[in-house]
Amino acid sequence: MTQLPNSLHAMDIASIVHPQSNLRKHVEVGPMVFTKGKGIFVYDDDGKEYLEGAAGLWCASLGFGVERLAKVAYEQMTKVGYYHIYRHASNETAIELAAKLLEMAPVPMSKVFFQCSGSEANDTAVKLAWYYWHAMGKPEKKKIIGRKMGYHGSTCAAASISGKPDMHQESGLPFDNFRHTEFPHYYRNQLPGETEEQFSARMAKALEDMIIAEGPETVAAFWAEPVMGAGGAVLPPKGYFEKIQAVLRKYDVLFVADEVICGFGRTGNMWGSQTYKLKPDMISCAKALSAGLQPISALLINERVFQALMTESDKVGHLAHGYTYAGHPVTTAVALETLKIYEEMDMISHVKRVEKVFLAKMNALVDHPLIGEFSGIGLIGALEVVKDKKTRELHPASQGVMATIDANAKKNGLILRLVGNRIAFSPPLIIDEAQVGEMARRLKTTLDETWSAVRAN
Ligand SMILES: Cc1ncc(COP(=O)(O)O)c(C=O)c1O
Repeated sequence: MTQLPNSLHAMDIASIVHPQSNLRKHVEVGPMVFTKGKGIFVYDDDGKEYLEGAAGLWCASLGFGVERLAKVAYEQMTKVGYYHIYRHASNETAIELAAKLLEMAPVPMSKVFFQCSGSEANDTAVKLAWYYWHAMGKPEKKKIIGRKMGYHGSTCAAASISGKPDMHQESGLPFDNFRHTEFPHYYRNQLPGETEEQFSARMAKALEDMIIAEGPETVAAFWAEPVMGAGGAVLPPKGYFEKIQAVLRKYDVLFVADEVICGFGRTGNMWGSQTYKLKPDMISCAKALSAGLQPISALLINERVFQALMTESDKVGHLAHGYTYAGHPVTTAVALETLKIYEEMDMISHVKRVEKVFLAKMNALVDHPLIGEFSGIGLIGALEVVKDKKTRELHPASQGVMATIDANAKKNGLILRLVGNRIAFSPPLIIDEAQVGEMARRLKTTLDETWSAVRAN
């Protein structure tokens, strides 16, 4: 038997592989162990408080401990704690949740496919897109187009749709048939003198050129997050989705909106698709669906995709796809209750109210010598850290400016999501105006301390 040392930190180092972490550094520095959560704050094992500016992984919309959801989970576990939805079986809470999601959907949707994570929802959608074109008699329509710096998950197909180079390095990914069009980050990728609308037109033209080069008869689906999260909380430039969707319609390409971060209020509407007027054929969602307290995701599909699935199920004899914990009674019960809480507290109005303070406080930081721009909407946004505000030149990575920001933030009791040279925010949706002020205050101290260190160097 493996003998483990007995402090939590030593046991962690000896036993856990940490995702998205530098494994060698982890062996040296060990973990931050969180032992308590209350509202928008979490506490480490020394009792130090941190304001969670990223809601964990963009998900803990109701904060880090919700008694009402705990009670629902407990009651469901004692009633029927597990049952699957394979082979015509079902359960009450899965049925009610699916009906509720269809009622809430931003565009007419026909059915809901449950999974346990955002990655699985996107994986499922890849397979369904392939099924769809098979059923349409166009099996050669197989190619999936994502975007550079897009993020759709870590399973092999979801990582293939994603356009983050580190997700592909050394892994043999992306799979064949996956392509990536331009990263629509206006601030960073604009040409001299180019307006936002012109930039969007260039992005749409790049997509069209790619579809033509690949052969429209080979392109199955296009994927996009309304606001790109793990790419750095990057908002779409003006006119972007209108132009992109025109291209998709022209070449008969399915559109999958990845609402894993944006769904359930993050952008100030229930869906990012409402904020940006998207008309997707499928929508993947997760995270705030259960306030991050249970692992559940849902893929909403429209009638034309569902009809195609029926055709394929006729041919094969059944739909040969599914997950043991999909439609789990406990995860669906917690998600249903989460949606009830959003309604009762009128979450959308709350986000719209707090958004004003969030945008004002963050925009005020653009004057800081370290900051080049801020862009945000609802309760998601990011500040870009630059060396030169005019040229948008970055600090050399060797200077470790972002690592210094991270360390100072933690010292000041603030957890940030750093993506490259961007400081991203997606606090729990329950954050109030005063707490946004406190978040900005801790950030300002962090930036000031970091600027002093940069100047000293
Ligand atoms: C937009 C988006 N899609 C998909 C995923 C993957 O979700 P999961 O980590 O639950 O598999 C994420 C995770 O952060 C995400 O941000």
